[in-house]
Amino acid sequence: MKIIVINGTEKQGVTYRLKEIFLEQFRGKADVREFYLPKACPAFCSGCANCIIKGEHRCKDAEYIQKITSSLVESDLILMTSPAYVMHATGSMKALLDHLAYLWMPHRPASEMFTKRAVILTQCLGAGAKSAAKDIKHSLSWWGISQITVFTGRLMGDIVWEKLAEKKRRELTEKVRRLSDKFFSIDYEKPARVRGSTRIKFLFCRMLQKALYENDPESLDGKYWAKMGWLGRARPWKK
Ligand SMILES: Cc1cc2nc3c(=O)[nH]c(=O)nc-3n(C[C@H](O)[C@H](O)[C@H](O)COP(=O)(O)O)c2cc1C
Repeated sequence: MKIIVINGTEKQGVTYRLKEIFLEQFRGKADVREFYLPKACPAFCSGCANCIIKGEHRCKDAEYIQKITSSLVESDLILMTSPAYVMHATGSMKALLDHLAYLWMPHRPASEMFTKRAVILTQCLGAGAKSAAKDIKHSLSWWGISQITVFTGRLMGDIVWEKLAEKKRRELTEKVRRLSDKFFSIDYEKPARVRGSTRIKFLFCRMLQKALYENDPESLDGKYWAKMGWLGRARPWKK
């Protein structure tokens, strides 16, 4: 199986430690591809909208973004991590998510996304891990992913892993191991269940795309939806 990890920070801090605990049992058994932000996507979206209007390869940062997109599409499990910075995901994570706006359902979602599983792992000192996870979950759900599991941790003590109280370190470790066990036992040959909320979002976007396509058959998004057969009876979760 393939796992993609998108790390919202390059720091080998607490987020890194928890992510390593999650991956422990997958190492050597799964093909794990990791991206560290901002190194893996060092530029902000400039708002040119080329990705949406002209094509994702026309993005000034396509050389970075396309490596990440290909790996996202190929992976069976997506792991996104971030510490909370001012109650949200890191700016580097947001910069990447902005670059991936073209993958949102109202534009050109990848059909593979609909049957994938994702884990979001965030932590903070006191408050903000949940809103940081929500920032990421929002994008993932609009990419079409239904099965998104969120882990949030609160340190409530020191911010350095080694200086954390033993009890806290054990509590976090055990929780992440339990989560990892759950994902280790999944049969990734079986596609993830597509939720009703995802289907409804898809059908709403289909209505929009159908109207847009009739109005302008040359629009990139409309052509994509038509090519995928989604303006007819085909659905991304049906193989
Ligand atoms: C710029 C910045 C903003 C932060 N904002 C918050 C916050 O809003 N809430 C919180 O509980 N902790 C906040 N923290 C603390 C970090 O979330 C916490 O130390 C976390 O464990 C850091 O993870 P890391 O070791 O993986 O970098 C902030 C830290 C930084 C550097």
